[in-house]
Amino acid sequence: MAKLTIKDIDLKNKTVLVRADFNVPQDKDLNITDDTRIRATVPTLKYILDSGAKKLIVMSHLGRPDGKRVDKYSLKPVALRLQELLGVPVKFLNDCVGDNIKQEADAAKERVVLLENLRFHAEEELNDAGFAKQLASLADVYVNDAFGTAHRAHASTEGVTHFLKSSAGFLLEKEIKYLGGAVTNPEKPFMVILGGSKVSDKIGVIENLLPKCDAIIVGGGMAYTFLKAQGKSIGNSKLEKDKLDLAKSILGKAKALKKEIILPVDHVVVDTIDANAKSEIAGENIPDGKIAVDIGPKTIELFEDKLKSAKTIVWNGPVGIFEMDAFSKGSLAIAKFISGLKATTIIGGGDTAAAVAKFKLEDKMTHIATGGGASLEYLEGKVLPGVAALTEK
Ligand code: 3PG
Repeated sequence: MAKLTIKDIDLKNKTVLVRADFNVPQDKDLNITDDTRIRATVPTLKYILDSGAKKLIVMSHLGRPDGKRVDKYSLKPVALRLQELLGVPVKFLNDCVGDNIKQEADAAKERVVLLENLRFHAEEELNDAGFAKQLASLADVYVNDAFGTAHRAHASTEGVTHFLKSSAGFLLEKEIKYLGGAVTNPEKPFMVILGGSKVSDKIGVIENLLPKCDAIIVGGGMAYTFLKAQGKSIGNSKLEKDKLDLAKSILGKAKALKKEIILPVDHVVVDTIDANAKSEIAGENIPDGKIAVDIGPKTIELFEDKLKSAKTIVWNGPVGIFEMDAFSKGSLAIAKFISGLKATTIIGGGDTAAAVAKFKLEDKMTHIATGGGASLEYLEGKVLPGVAALTEK
């Protein structure tokens, strides 16, 4: 990595400010329903403690409170979970800036302090320099381990780096290693699987990866705009009418580059989207009134055949409505199949990571990104401000 990483800086007797992404899902009683993001940062936090740091001050956002204090977005439940995972006491402070907070952080007898949600202050998302300076004043060095928020140029991810020596934590470094490796130097054949509901969400990824990969496999709602562009009947399936020309031009571009875009050849279809809806298999053309909700058995076979010799696979977006068990078979089959290949398998964050977690195949993939938006922007070839701002080696 061209940027400083945590191993490049002297942490002994230093107060270390860490930006983590603890934006975790919670149920209505505020119980954390998936602590993956907290667990993913633990190696960095433990390393800092084991390196003799004087104090560890951790900061994050949670949800989108829009610059106001909103109780349900408090990081307090995260402090408890973090304490369990680290095995040391964590002091939770009820704000993130101000003289009192600085005094309380300095005076805390606990070595680990978690600040309250950064986004309770509008200045965070505005990347306000004064706010960033106040955060920086809490510590001697800064570590960014918040890959999930690296695509945001906020005070805690970008602004703060103007005031402190700034390095990447292990999680951020690992994410860039796998996603960066796939984008810049993938072992071939390099196959990309794209799904999810909208073509518009994936245009940037298609444009960036089409010249680099061997083929793109398309499933999920976005496939139907492509199929319609090829003149197929898609019934009442998801269609982005205003993206039909774009889909045609992408198919044309792929042809010119001699790259395949592989689309479903059969479909699981229903009359209405409902977990208990009666489904049937439709062939290439979907009858009027029917809605495709998953890829069909022939498509699973086709996709597996195309994927079997891959050495690098990037998967972003489920190929059906995986949240409903009846329509998760396509995504499950693809997840199982690629998990058994001798290939580097990189799973985008967000829905794809949630699907792989639902299928309990997380341990069988090479890398699962902890950020949906951030991994998408990285795969689009965009510079992530949170990474770009770190101190050069
Ligand atoms: C995420 O969940 O993708 C990150 O935590 C970023 O959150 P945001 O989209 O609200 O900036």
